[in-house]
Amino acid sequence: MKIRVHREILPDERRVALVPKAVASLVASGHEVVVPPGAGAESGFSDSEYREAGGAVEDSTGCDLLVGVGPLTATDAAGAERALGFMDPLGSPGEMQAFADAGGTVYAMEFVPRTTQAQSMDALSSQATVAGYEAVLLAASASPRFFPMLMTAAGTIRPAKVLVLGAGVAGLQAIATARRLGAVVSGYDIRPAAREQVESLGASFVGGPVVDESETSGGYAAEVDEATKAAQLEALAAAVAQSDVVITTAQVPGRKAPILITTEMVESMKLGGVVVDLAASTGGNCELTKAGEIVDHGGVDIHGPLDLPSRTPAHASEMYSRNVTSLIEHLFGENGADEDPDDEIARETCVVRSGQITQERVRQALGGTN
Ligand SMILES: NC(=O)c1ccc[n+]([C@@H]2O[C@H](COP(=O)([O-])OP(=O)(O)OC[C@H]3O[C@@H](n4cnc5c(N)ncnc54)[C@H](O)[C@@H]3O)[C@@H](O)[C@H]2O)c1
Repeated sequence: MKIRVHREILPDERRVALVPKAVASLVASGHEVVVPPGAGAESGFSDSEYREAGGAVEDSTGCDLLVGVGPLTATDAAGAERALGFMDPLGSPGEMQAFADAGGTVYAMEFVPRTTQAQSMDALSSQATVAGYEAVLLAASASPRFFPMLMTAAGTIRPAKVLVLGAGVAGLQAIATARRLGAVVSGYDIRPAAREQVESLGASFVGGPVVDESETSGGYAAEVDEATKAAQLEALAAAVAQSDVVITTAQVPGRKAPILITTEMVESMKLGGVVVDLAASTGGNCELTKAGEIVDHGGVDIHGPLDLPSRTPAHASEMYSRNVTSLIEHLFGENGADEDPDDEIARETCVVRSGQITQERVRQALGGTN
C-alpha cells in the first residue's frame, strides 16, 4: 500500500502520526510511505531521519491510506482511498457523511475496542497517559507551592495536596506523576474497581459514592443518576476545599462530562489553588471550566487545556505511531482482517466503507437520516 502521513494542521497540534521507526517497519513489510517535508519537525523528527527509514519525503496527494493524528476531515483526505486516525465520529458525524459522499473508507482510532487483542492499538489510552502526566506538570508549574516536602535551612515546606477525580488511564497516570513529585495525593472514581488501583499507587481514596453498575463491559463508566450526582458533590466538597491542586479526568463516552466541582467548591479553595480539567473538550468536570482557556475565579485558576498530549510530542507520537502501525498490520497485513465481518477490530474501527456509513451510532448522531 502507498501510505501517506498527514501534515497536522490544527492549532497547537505538534504530534505526527508515524515516527521514523514506524516508517521503517512499514517499509520492511512492503509498504511505500510518503511523508510531507517537515511533518515531524515539531515532534523532533527530521526529514533526513524519515529518508533513512526508507520513507519518501515529498508533498503528494494520491495514496491508498492517509494516516493522521487528526481529527481528520474529508478535505484532508482528498486523493486518499482510505483515512485512519482520530476522526471524532460522534462529535463530527457531518464530517463522516462528507467522507461517505466522497466515496471514501474511514477508520477511527476512537473506536478501537478495549480488548486484550487490541491493546497495542488503543490510542485513547496511550494519549490519555500523556495527558495525565502533562496535567500534573502544568499544575505543578501553575501552583505557587512546591509539590514535595522540603526540609531546608530556610524552613520546612509541607507537601502540596493533590486531588485527582476520575481514576481511569489519565487519572491513574496523574496520581503516579504527582506522587513521584512528592505531593500528598488522593483520588476518586465512581467505579468500585478504581479504589484498589488508586491505593496501589500510594494515594488515598476519597470516600464518595461508588456504583457497581457504573462500569460498562468496555471498562468505561456509565452516566449516574441525580441522587448519586448530589451525593458525589456532597462527598467531594471537603476534599476539594483541602486541596492545593485538583485534577479532573472524569468522562462518560458519548456524553457531556459529569460536573464534580461546583463554583461554590472552587470558592472554598485556598488562594493560589489550581484546577486542571482534562474533560474540558466534553464540557468540563468543573462548572467554571472554559475549553482551551484559563479562568481566574477569585484567585483560583481553572485550566481547560485541549492540547496536553501535544506537549510531549516526541513520546506521544512514538506511542500513537505504535498504535497506528499495529492497527495497519492487523487490517492490511499478511492475513488482512479489513473486510472480515467476523473481525471485531475491523468491524468496530471502520466507520465509513466505500461511501457507506457502517456504524449505527454514527447514523444516530446524524439524526437517523442515513
Ligand atoms: N484494553 C483494556 O481492557 C482497557 C484499555 C484502556 C482502559 N481500560 C479501562 O477502562 C477504564 C476507563 O478508561 P478511560 O480512562 O479511558 O475512561 P474515560 O476517559 O472514559 O473516563 C475517565 C474516568 O472517569 C470516571 N468517571 C466517569 N464518570 C464519573 C463520575 N460521575 N464520577 C467519578 N468518576 C467518573 C470513569 O470511571 C473513568 O475511570 C479504566 O478502568 C481502564 O483501566 C481498559
